[in-house]
Amino acid sequence: MEVTFKVYRFNPEFDDKPHYDEYKLEMGEDSVILDALNKIKWEIDGSLSYRRSCRHGICGSCAIKLNGKNVLACKTPIKEAVEQFGNVLIVEPLSKKKEKVIKDLVIDKKDFWDKNAKVKPYLIAEIDEHPTSENLIPPKLVELLEDADYCIACGCCYYTCETIRGGDTEFLGPQALAKTYRFTADVRDEAKKERLELVNELGIGVWDCVKCQGCIEVCPKGVDPFTKITHLHNQIFEEGVAKKNVATKHAEGFVHSIKKHGILDEGMLVLYSEGVNVVRHLPEAIAMFAKGKIKLPWQMPKSKGLDEIQKLIEISQTHELKD
Ligand code: FES
Repeated sequence: MEVTFKVYRFNPEFDDKPHYDEYKLEMGEDSVILDALNKIKWEIDGSLSYRRSCRHGICGSCAIKLNGKNVLACKTPIKEAVEQFGNVLIVEPLSKKKEKVIKDLVIDKKDFWDKNAKVKPYLIAEIDEHPTSENLIPPKLVELLEDADYCIACGCCYYTCETIRGGDTEFLGPQALAKTYRFTADVRDEAKKERLELVNELGIGVWDCVKCQGCIEVCPKGVDPFTKITHLHNQIFEEGVAKKNVATKHAEGFVHSIKKHGILDEGMLVLYSEGVNVVRHLPEAIAMFAKGKIKLPWQMPKSKGLDEIQKLIEISQTHELKD
């Protein structure tokens, strides 16, 4: 199978700007992208830089961008990539921000690792330093982790996340948040509240996720960070960590609106979340009203089966916000 690889090349020491080198390679039916990178480096151009180690989807170091999608080079069969993207495969680093690229496909992941470290990605518990047996938990309790422990910290999700790409440098990102859930869901961990307090902070925590769900799509381990973030939202309320702020009021506003109408009242949702600050949204509100996208409170229809919806909310809603 002949495939053309267009590989991102940039050596900040010598290059003013990045360029792409093209390599036409004859690859075997079972080859993966990493095989092609190795072939280029070992047989054609030894100056190509990229990271790799285990070659088995375990270490996470070979994460790259392939035709715009973050993947593990060692777990992506070339055949499948060609079926999806065609015969020209574009290989780029996870982030092309100039300040991030160290060389070619190797980027500086300091921000990623700092955030991973910030959430203390290890079990916090008083443990017997000389245990006579393993500290096991029953399979039913392991299921609560929902595979969050499969994360290999490759960064595919982090560099796909729209909040991160948008230049929000403080947001912890999907990997660190999924890692947080991995421990808040672990019954052996004794720092659940402290962890939830950290991810409840505006600007860095769960409330700054813009719900693009890109993390679900690219995670090579099926961790589904987005769902873990929604679980953290719930745990924040369940553990009494939630404070009254625009983000938690927004979440509460949804419930308030559904309880009242059975459907979402977009206009009142903003008023409920932002209080008097709602005036700054007046121009958008007028435009939306003119297009029929929001209604005045007395124009809001009621959903069919509103009684049932209200009962469901009463059964499931258990928490009030703290001031
Ligand atoms: S080389 Fe380790 S995950 Fe690809």
